[in-house]
Amino acid sequence: MATFTSNMCGIVGYVGRSQAAPILLDGLRRLEYRGYDSAGVAIVDGDHVEMRKCAGRIASLAKLISQKPAAGSYGISHTRWATHGKVNDENAHPHFDATGKIALVHNGVIENYQALKEQLIQNGDTNFRSDTDTEVLAHLIGSIYGQLEGKDSKARLVNATRAALKQVIGTYGIAVVHSDIPNFMVGARRGSPLVLGVGKDENFLASDVSAIVAHTRDAVYLNDFDLVALERDKFEISSIDGAVGQHAVSKVEFSAEDIKKGDYPHYMLKEICEQADTVRDAMRGRLTYEECTAKLGGLNMTPPELRDVARVVLTGCGTALHAGRVGEYLIERLANIPVEVEFASEYRHRNTPMTERTLVFAISQSGETADTLGALRESRRKGYRTLGICNNVASTIARESDGGVYMHAGPEIGVAATKSFTSQLVILTLIGLLLGRMRQLSTAEGKRMIDALEALPGQIEEVLKLSDQIKSIAKKYVDVSGMLFFGRQFNYPIALEGALKMKEITYLFAEGHPSAELKHGIIALVRPDLPSIFIAPDDAVLSKNLNNIEQVKARKGPIIAVTSGNGAKQLKDLAADIIEVPDVIDCLSPVLTVIPLQLLAYHLAVELGRDVDKPRNLAKSVTVE
Ligand code: F6R
Repeated sequence: MATFTSNMCGIVGYVGRSQAAPILLDGLRRLEYRGYDSAGVAIVDGDHVEMRKCAGRIASLAKLISQKPAAGSYGISHTRWATHGKVNDENAHPHFDATGKIALVHNGVIENYQALKEQLIQNGDTNFRSDTDTEVLAHLIGSIYGQLEGKDSKARLVNATRAALKQVIGTYGIAVVHSDIPNFMVGARRGSPLVLGVGKDENFLASDVSAIVAHTRDAVYLNDFDLVALERDKFEISSIDGAVGQHAVSKVEFSAEDIKKGDYPHYMLKEICEQADTVRDAMRGRLTYEECTAKLGGLNMTPPELRDVARVVLTGCGTALHAGRVGEYLIERLANIPVEVEFASEYRHRNTPMTERTLVFAISQSGETADTLGALRESRRKGYRTLGICNNVASTIARESDGGVYMHAGPEIGVAATKSFTSQLVILTLIGLLLGRMRQLSTAEGKRMIDALEALPGQIEEVLKLSDQIKSIAKKYVDVSGMLFFGRQFNYPIALEGALKMKEITYLFAEGHPSAELKHGIIALVRPDLPSIFIAPDDAVLSKNLNNIEQVKARKGPIIAVTSGNGAKQLKDLAADIIEVPDVIDCLSPVLTVIPLQLLAYHLAVELGRDVDKPRNLAKSVTVE
């Protein structure tokens, strides 16, 4: 039985007058964060398709192309993140149909590919080279194309693609070319992102605008069930059903410069260091001193509607979920509204009792995470007002939600999320402030929050100056077997986030827990080669944290403490290393305490020789379930 080989991935297509190969390779490099298991291009040269593909990173593909160039001015390309099935040359995209004339790249999962394949085999098509679901789709399109009548080969390819997609159960963002149809490409999407880049005498398709922004900033964000036929100088968008639709061309917010590393050795470090600016951008124009509250017009809710909210649900995955966990403490503190935090992947499949006047927020940097999108759709289906907190403008979550708040953090390329996290924290604070000021929060308390928020960028600059100190701490711990992270209240989720950063980029075992949970089992792990990192700022629970630190110290566990204010003095004889961040009101401390943990994971990963921006097995935008 064939192996099921679904994929997440990034795709890029080009139709124009320049050589396609360098444009496609450059685009793939920009999308490498989406997956880096294998890569490939199919470029049409005259009447045949030049295919180059291999397991490994874009650099391996570039080497292959430099050894065996592929000429031609239109083509498609792909970088893969495998979920099931082997990472090998055969399973790399693009894939051909049975005639070898149609080439296709695919981002998504074709759930019924086995049934479709059996049907094709019954009809005599046995020429499958890979284990992939994608190759089945290429064969299906080819088989329908062969059966269709008519001289207009462009219309035939469009209709064959349309007819094949109607048989597909699953998700796709695809690009298709046919070697007999010069300068022509078909794209379509359902469940996987796809954007059309509109250039001058050239057009592009990509999973994400960052792949094409060096060539054009005019983009059309395709919707689910859109199909686009593109040529050099025109494009036509219709639905999979055939209806022709209207689509607006948007201006991409950022430029090619914004997605360069500059002088930084890694995107992750660049993005950590951008946080004073990104935090400023997350609150820019959203604070009002007159009323001591936040203005969030994008929520699309009237004051009476906001006042009526009786329960808030925050959902997301990974780092975004951790931001939600801080948000729970924040909104409950500021607005006194019950908040629940839900793993998007669990929430969407659960039978949660419907409660009236519930407001749901889907938190997602990419705005494309399949589980978060699924949670958003389920929540809307049940009738909840569902808002997005997204970074990527015009992403699927941003478009499908009833309103929301953009992070304005700029492109985040490092696979480990950093700046998007602190932006999410600021936005959740603004939401808490807005809801709070409509309830019990006084003007004075509102003003105190605004003052504290406005001081944050300057304080972040101070924290960033600790990078060298944190680097020397990291050097001391290169031989450890793992790390434990502890925090209380607002900083319990920071323990979770610190541990996540540590495991994803250093590959060290790491866990985060509420400090007090130590004595309920975790303390059995404490030993000299397993440091405990306590996030223990000078807040209402510092003395409680100190008790837990004593318990670890008594069992010879090394301690690194992130603290503030009087904390450093009290930790002097307890912690082997103390990282001191500026003092801030307790509900905002996570914005400052998380940064040393990002830097610690970063410096340790560099010391260990890890691929910081592209950690093994991961991808940034998780568009599969
Ligand atoms: C961790 C990380 C992931 C993402 C998660 C959600 O560093 O990057 O855990 O936070 O996959 O991604 P978004 O926010 O794009 O929905």
